[in-house]
Amino acid sequence: MKQLILAILLIIVNCGRLTADIYVESLCPYCMMFIKDSLLTAITTPDIEQMVHIRLIPYGNTKRKIVDGKWVFTCQHGEVECYGDLIELCAQDSIVKALGTVAAEIPKAGVVHCIEDFIQKPYTNNSFVEAAQHCQQYYPYEANEVINCASSAYGELLHLIAADETDNLVPKHKGVPWAVANKQYTEETGDEIINNLLRWACNNYDGEKIAACYTQQE
Ligand SMILES: *[C@@H]1O[C@H](CO)[C@@H](O)[C@H](O)[C@H]1NC(C)=O
Repeated sequence: MKQLILAILLIIVNCGRLTADIYVESLCPYCMMFIKDSLLTAITTPDIEQMVHIRLIPYGNTKRKIVDGKWVFTCQHGEVECYGDLIELCAQDSIVKALGTVAAEIPKAGVVHCIEDFIQKPYTNNSFVEAAQHCQQYYPYEANEVINCASSAYGELLHLIAADETDNLVPKHKGVPWAVANKQYTEETGDEIINNLLRWACNNYDGEKIAACYTQQE
């Protein structure tokens, strides 16, 4: 009975929620700026998940094709970026397995921030290995599992899922970071999310707004 009530409450709570799907790449400078500014402010705001479901999809302008029966991915900023996207996809996946889909929402975005905040130039695959090891202390995953995942068939599957979602966007994304509000792209909302996700959520959420909406949002 308790579980049923909880399930119904979750459905009600989730009903009017906004969604913000943000398409990124692990080495794109504007993505890093978004992640370290607008995203960080939003995900460190208490109760933000009551107003908006935030998702980061690391794939962006990557291209893929089949060569000799195998998928080959070409990332905008080189093969290190492909590896970074894989680490981020695998870390998000591990966190979902540890916490469940709903509780993982903010930590999934958080781990991408942690990784992006940790890596330093010159970027190598090892930058992302070390980032996965570093961020393990803050998030519920095993770095070794994430690193293994990144070069496994399962990691490739996660890459393909991100690829399908990104490549099937209507309209097609014209760059990264690319933000889609409530599954329907408009340039205005896309820009608002990239500039200030918290402010956009506060201005657009129809339900009871969280405390942070009534204080500073600059
Ligand atoms: C880095 O990772 C990418 C993507 O998995 C891979 O194609 C590449 O061979 C790796 N590079 C090195 C030097 O290990």
